[in-house]
Amino acid sequence: MISHYEVSIAVPADAPRIAELSRDAIEEGLGWSWTPHRVARSVRDRTTNVVVARSGSSFAGFAIMKYGEDEAHLLLLAVHSAHRRRGVGTTMLAWLEATLRAAGIAMIRLEARARNTAALAFYRKHGFNQTGLLEGYYSDREDAVRLERDLRVAR
Ligand SMILES: CC(C)(COP(=O)(O)OP(=O)(O)OC[C@H]1O[C@@H](n2cnc3c(N)ncnc32)[C@H](O)[C@@H]1OP(=O)(O)O)[C@@H](O)C(=O)NCCC(=O)NCCS
Repeated sequence: MISHYEVSIAVPADAPRIAELSRDAIEEGLGWSWTPHRVARSVRDRTTNVVVARSGSSFAGFAIMKYGEDEAHLLLLAVHSAHRRRGVGTTMLAWLEATLRAAGIAMIRLEARARNTAALAFYRKHGFNQTGLLEGYYSDREDAVRLERDLRVAR
């Protein structure tokens, strides 16, 4: 599928929209920890990539990935509800994976809410394997699933 969505590195002015989408689509019911201030700090952090997907001037989604020595942690990824199932999440993930390959990093790890069936289906489709269940990971109230993908392993 040819996407008309473009992925680019976020700028500090994107922080409020990113934070609002995190609050509404990812952190719903858990409290708002990814505030505009925290997102802006990540935008400025040299070991973190914050990317946004846009269709023209319309903000469609974002992802935040933190790099370690030999692995990366996908902290957040969300697509605005009006833009889902059009390949936006896939396009952002592909952008991040290409960046990781260029940096010689093969492992991506992440945690997702165990009840988030859409996210689990999305990551499964993209070759992530479940490696653990973390009880009460979110505010001692909700379990998380730990997922990882080794980019050296062909899907
Ligand atoms: C999960 C999420 C990021 C997927 O983004 P998206 O842009 O809609 O995903 P894509 O269009 O690239 O989907 C790729 C594939 O993933 C799977 N998938 C995506 N959403 C799905 C859903 N709701 N149910 C089942 N499978 C799904 C499908 O296999 C899909 O391929 P298909 O559309 O050809 O069937 C999006 O639903 C979202 O933002 N959810 C809220 C935030 C969130 O849960 N983030 C992840 C945890 S941090």
